[in-house]
Amino acid sequence: MPIVFPFDPDLAKAATIPSRLYVDPVYHELERERIFARTWQLVARTEQLAQPGDYVVVEIAGESVVLVRDAQGLRGYHNVCLHRAGPVATGCGRRQTLQCKYHGWTYSLAGELLRAPEMESTEHFRPADFRLHPVQVASWGPLVFATLDLKAPPLLHFLEGIPARAASFRPEAMRWVMRKEYPVRCNWKVYVDNYLEGYHLPVVHPGLHKELDYDQYRVEPHRYWSLQHAPLRPVQGNAADRTYVADATGSDAQYYWLFPNVMLNVYLGQLQTNVVLPDGPDRCTVVFEWFAHDPPADPATDPVWSRRVHFSDEIQAEDVEICEVVQKNLRSRVYDRGRYSAKRENGVHHFHSLLHEFLT
Ligand code: FES
Ligand SMILES: [Fe+2]
Repeated sequence: MPIVFPFDPDLAKAATIPSRLYVDPVYHELERERIFARTWQLVARTEQLAQPGDYVVVEIAGESVVLVRDAQGLRGYHNVCLHRAGPVATGCGRRQTLQCKYHGWTYSLAGELLRAPEMESTEHFRPADFRLHPVQVASWGPLVFATLDLKAPPLLHFLEGIPARAASFRPEAMRWVMRKEYPVRCNWKVYVDNYLEGYHLPVVHPGLHKELDYDQYRVEPHRYWSLQHAPLRPVQGNAADRTYVADATGSDAQYYWLFPNVMLNVYLGQLQTNVVLPDGPDRCTVVFEWFAHDPPADPATDPVWSRRVHFSDEIQAEDVEICEVVQKNLRSRVYDRGRYSAKRENGVHHFHSLLHEFLT
């Protein structure tokens, strides 16, 4: 089966990408190397790395990575000892050095090997020759991103335009509220495709459809991200019946998607992030995290937050149900490619153009 696949940059003429991209393990491996190992990944929160010595172990494209804050700022390393590949850190915490959990080689937070016990009789062994392999780390607002690719352009190049547009939400003042994980039995791209269009709103989300102005819904693609504008419908009658109520300035919800797998949903003074992590050709985990300027003491008992999370759970359940059926049907003997709605699916086509660019 060929790895390359056809893609037409003209949305009105294009057919969707072949179904094998969603089911064949070959693409799962290829995406790991060519997409997840080369792009900026949302991996942690700045509050986890607030003080010098704070560290957290994360995973990127199947690699264990340790992120640390030292006096210079944020740094990151492959969590692989240069002796015999032990881990230099586990979990999270605060330390002045990183000590391997196997034979105890000790590294500074700048990645230099400081001490290697009982190596005196080893010829030409100089600790100064050994340094942990770095990764790139950067933060924006409360979010920490990292990439394994040392040649990747800086995070801000990749986010170009978002910080300015989202400035009025004051992301830097946002604090973490809570996290939820949803295992989904579909390819990560099925979930992303579904996120990138409002076309399914009337059928899949009748409740949400009532709250949003579907006619005004639009997707604005940029180089590595897209923005969905979903203005709220004006309130008529009892505002208490509504989950979201437009504020006096009429500001709309902004849904940013960052290639390949991150969503930043900004509305009414809160930020919700979604990260879609591939677990296999037909499995993924979606991690939701919420941030706000004034986090509640306990979101589980706070009435505003429990209502919000309940509504989000409902939407998520509707999306998961359709995504899982689509995943099964992508294996059908009769289906390979479809067509895009040129009016409603430009965001999906934009995602597929980036897949095509990175994979072929
Ligand atoms: S593997 Fe790290 S000290 Fe041996
Ligand atoms: Fe949806």
